[in-house]
Amino acid sequence: MDVAIKQVSKLYPGKVRALDGVTLNIGTGTFGLLGPNGAGKTTLMRLVATLDVPTRGEITVGGIDCRRRPAEVRRLLGYLPQSFAAFRRLTAYEFLDYVGLLKGLDGPRRRRDIERMLELVGLTGAARARAGTFSGGMLQRLGIAQALLGDPALLIVDEPTAGLDPEERVRFRNLLAELGKDRTVILSTHIVADVERACRELALLAAGRVVFRGEPSELAALAAGAVWEVEVDEGTYERTRLSHQVVSAVSTGGGRFRLRVVGESPPPGAAGPATPTLEDGYMAVMRRQQRAQQAAG
Ligand SMILES: Nc1ncnc2c1ncn2[C@@H]1O[C@H](COP(=O)(O)OP(=O)(O)O)[C@@H](O)[C@H]1O
Ligand SMILES: [Mg+2]
Repeated sequence: MDVAIKQVSKLYPGKVRALDGVTLNIGTGTFGLLGPNGAGKTTLMRLVATLDVPTRGEITVGGIDCRRRPAEVRRLLGYLPQSFAAFRRLTAYEFLDYVGLLKGLDGPRRRRDIERMLELVGLTGAARARAGTFSGGMLQRLGIAQALLGDPALLIVDEPTAGLDPEERVRFRNLLAELGKDRTVILSTHIVADVERACRELALLAAGRVVFRGEPSELAALAAGAVWEVEVDEGTYERTRLSHQVVSAVSTGGGRFRLRVVGESPPPGAAGPATPTLEDGYMAVMRRQQRAQQAAG
């Protein structure tokens, strides 16, 4: 299912420009929407999910215009909002039954679908337990199950891994990667590792603009020649923090620190070049972005 986002801007009352001329084409597979808090990820997802309309620009899902034919677009998509809460007193099954009804699934198909979804997200054994007793990870998996009812070709999930423990996070990522095999999944996150593990392609959003679009390895490559490792004393560490982006600082004892640093020139000390990771690429792009903004006034 192709999602085409053309020159989309969104202004909220009070002149908040949440999106500023975003253009993105997204096809089958799991696509990551990465960016810091306030970048505009939720706004963009709500527009694609037809929950709001852009101030400018247009969005189509499978060639259908989100503004003019929202009811048709809604039939194609499943959505897991950023703050998802199931009705806590309903069991997993009862909740899915309710959502299936809202989606217009008839009796036998609804039952079949619910059982298939529970299986897919690993909640078959918990089908008769109340959602109020679930862990964070189980709730998010129930959230995916409700979004998948009716077999939408487009799945939109907003920051689904926030608040999950490491094991649940890994499990959830794998599920999202699996789901992207035969549908379009748009996953938003501010966690770089989520994108690295689950997504074939990504866009990096900063202050409402797309500042990078490509594969995870391409984002990492943007930091090539700009990542350094160096061991320094505390005073040098403090100076380095002013001139460079310190990605990590590990105390090695005796007041010394091993730093991983992103910057255009080598940091003070006997620095050696390091192989860039996706996180370094993210830091490098965000740093260039901030500098460009400062330069613009
Ligand atoms: N309903 C709203 N009214 C006014 N401003 C909003 C509203 N929703 C979001 N914003 C603002 O729009 C910007 C983008 O927010 P959001 O899309 O939630 O970003 P993200 O999901 O990346 O954290 C932020 O500055 C946020 O404060
Ligand atoms: Mg958000």
